[in-house]
Amino acid sequence: MATRSSSSVLVFVGLAVLLAAVADAQLSESFYARTCPGGVQAVANVVNNAVRNDRRFAAGLLRLHFHDCFVRGCDASVLLNSASRNAEKDAPPNLTLQGFAIIDQAKAALERTCPGVFSCSDILALAARDAVSFIGGPRWRVPLGRRDGSISRAAEANSQLPTTRMGFRALAQNFARKGLSESDMVILSGAHTIGLTHCRDVTPRIYNFAGSRDGADPYLNRTYVTEKRRACPNTRAAAGNFVNLDSSLGGQRFDKNYYENVLNHKAVFNSDDALIAVARGLNQVRSIVRNPQSTFFSQFGAAMEKMGRISVLTGSRGQIRRTCSRTN
Ligand SMILES: *[C@@H]1O[C@H](CO)[C@@H](O)[C@H](O)[C@H]1NC(C)=O
Ligand SMILES: *[C@@H]1O[C@H](CO)[C@@H](O)[C@H](O)[C@H]1NC(C)=O
Repeated sequence: MATRSSSSVLVFVGLAVLLAAVADAQLSESFYARTCPGGVQAVANVVNNAVRNDRRFAAGLLRLHFHDCFVRGCDASVLLNSASRNAEKDAPPNLTLQGFAIIDQAKAALERTCPGVFSCSDILALAARDAVSFIGGPRWRVPLGRRDGSISRAAEANSQLPTTRMGFRALAQNFARKGLSESDMVILSGAHTIGLTHCRDVTPRIYNFAGSRDGADPYLNRTYVTEKRRACPNTRAAAGNFVNLDSSLGGQRFDKNYYENVLNHKAVFNSDDALIAVARGLNQVRSIVRNPQSTFFSQFGAAMEKMGRISVLTGSRGQIRRTCSRTN
């Protein structure tokens, strides 16, 4: 009995591996080589122009792809509008989502040259890569052939996205549910080398920390507290101001400096501190800091490629949306 059940488990695992391999085989960098030869370049042109005008869009586009993939897989569900305002983009974690207009602009260009062919989910995946590499970050492979989903639910965004309050275990479990490892989680957190957050996300730790003598979380670096208090005055009016996640180098440069900040207790979120709260995470963060930036870049790229494969729709599943914000 034990033998029988373990061999059927093996068969099942073998089948799952085979199916996964088949699904992966359907994504390919040359997917549009015949059907939309200039498509990949057209996306790059739109993205590069947008990021040239405002580097902050790099973080926006990176985050859009991440939010898409973590909820229902990389199926462009994050782009769908809902008349009753209960789609993913209506959920609180969306509050700083940016870049929708850039995706729409790329889609409009593609619909003019190769109508009905290029998926919104592939545009999201390319836009994240192009934007990050445009500002000097890594450039990774983006296999294509994802198709678009037709369901988007705010409740799923709320329950499936990791939060900035999570500790190591909760983060690791959240990533594991998407097929990503602890090490992928530490590497993908490096995305916080760019991007912004609201002062209201910072003030609880620098002014209103329960039980602290001066109101600041004693875990935080004092230099950091002073700097953040300057950037975020303790007023209602300042709550909506933006601060850089990685303040040390102007915030819009993609580098491994984020990890040094985490080691020095100069990061905004509890989920940043969490990375070094466990020995395995601490060792990985130290190793990233010690190694050349190129090592971080290639690890980040590999993790992004893996993230871009989460529950993709391929073959005859899903659809190619004509307009990214609504289903056909
Ligand atoms: C994000 O969700 C809020 C409601 O939680 C909504 O008011 C806002 O328009 C949404 N933002 C975007 C970019 O869709
Ligand atoms: C605070 O940051 C400085 C670098 O700016 C670092 O040398 C120091 O070790 C940090 N302190 C703590 C407690 O991490």
